[in-house]
Amino acid sequence: MELFLILSREHETLPSAEVKAALQAENIPFNSKNYELGIMGLMVDDGEEIAQVLGKRLGYAHEICQLLKETTLNELEYDFTNLDWKELLGDDFAVRVKKIGTELEIDSLATEKSLGTIVKSQVADASKVNLENPSSFIRILVTGNTVLIGKRLVKIDKKHFYELKPHKRPFFYPGSMSPKLARCMINLSQIQKDDLLMDPFCGTGGILIEAGILGARVIGSDIDWKMVKGTAENLEHCGIKDFIVFQSDARHLDLEEKVKAVVTDPPYGISASLAGEEGAKLYKDFLESISDNMLDNGRLCMATPHYVDVNALIQGTKFKILERHEIRMHKSLTRVISVMEKLN
Ligand SMILES: C[S@@+](CC[C@H](N)C(=O)[O-])C[C@H]1O[C@@H](n2cnc3c(N)ncnc32)[C@H](O)[C@@H]1O
Repeated sequence: MELFLILSREHETLPSAEVKAALQAENIPFNSKNYELGIMGLMVDDGEEIAQVLGKRLGYAHEICQLLKETTLNELEYDFTNLDWKELLGDDFAVRVKKIGTELEIDSLATEKSLGTIVKSQVADASKVNLENPSSFIRILVTGNTVLIGKRLVKIDKKHFYELKPHKRPFFYPGSMSPKLARCMINLSQIQKDDLLMDPFCGTGGILIEAGILGARVIGSDIDWKMVKGTAENLEHCGIKDFIVFQSDARHLDLEEKVKAVVTDPPYGISASLAGEEGAKLYKDFLESISDNMLDNGRLCMATPHYVDVNALIQGTKFKILERHEIRMHKSLTRVISVMEKLN
C-alpha cells in the first residue's frame, strides 16, 4: 500500500528522519518518496496496521493517509470521479483540501463542495456528509504541481504533547526539552518496547517520559539530587512505572545492566564559554563512561550546542556518527542532534 504522511514543517530533516527511524525500530520494510517539505510518501506492505504503529510513535507527524491516486489539478475531478467511493467509504464522510508548498491556485472550499457532490452522486444514501466527525475523511493534498487524493488512516493526537509541556508537570525547571523533540530523539535512537534506555543528564525527566510512553524501561540519573527527585515525581505523574532514577555524575557511570539506547541533552552554556576545555572534557569523559555501559550496536542520540565539535569528541571512542540535524534556536545558538552507533 502507498501512504502519504503530513509532517510538521518546523524542521527540515528531523520529521522525515524520525519516520524512517521508527520504521526501522519496528522492523518494517519500506520505500520512501519525497514530495514537498512536510510531506512524505511511503510504500509498505500492511499500510493500515503500519499507520497505527507510526501514529502511536511519531512526534513530528500530523496525519497518515492511504494514497488513492496521485494526480494534477487539471485531472483532479476526472481521477476523483473514477475512484470507487462506494467501496472506500464508511457511514459518513468529509472531503478536506490542504495546500502545502504550492503555487497552484485552488479555491479549497469550492473544491471540497464539488468533490463532495461527486461522492454523494456515487454513494447515494450509503454514506452521508459529516463535516464534524466523519468515519471516512478524504484528504486532498495539493503540493508542488501534484495533487494527492487520500483516505486518512490516522490523525495524530497532539493533546499529549500539549498537556505534558514541561511547565505543566509537577516538577519544572528551566531548560527542559520540548516533548516533541524528546519524542523525536527517542525515535532516532530506534528503541523497541521493553528495551533499556538511559538519560544520564535527566534534568526534569522529559526524555524519559517520552521513552516510557513508548514502552521502554527507563533509567535516569543526574548529578543534582533535586533533579533526580523531580524526575521520579514527573515519571509517576505520567503513569510511567518501569523506571530507575539515581544520583550520579555522568562521567563515572557503573550500571548493573548495559543499556540499549542513550538519549540525552547534556548541559551547555548560553555562550560559547562551554566550548572551552572544561565543557569539551565533560562531554568526552561522559562518552567514555557511557560507552562501557552500552550494548554493542546500541544508539546514542545527543543534543549539543553548535560550538562543540562532536567529530573531535568521538575520536578514540567506539562511537560512529550516523546522522546529524541542526536546530537553530536563536542568532547565537544552534543545537545539533547527533545520532551515533556504538560499534563493537
Ligand atoms: C540541559 S539539562 C537536561 C534537561 C532535560 N533534558 C529536561 O528535559 O529536563 C542538563 C542536566 O545535566 C545535569 N548535569 C550537569 N552536569 C552533570 C554531570 N556531570 N553528570 C550528570 N548530570 C549533570 C544538570 O543537573 C541538568 O539537570
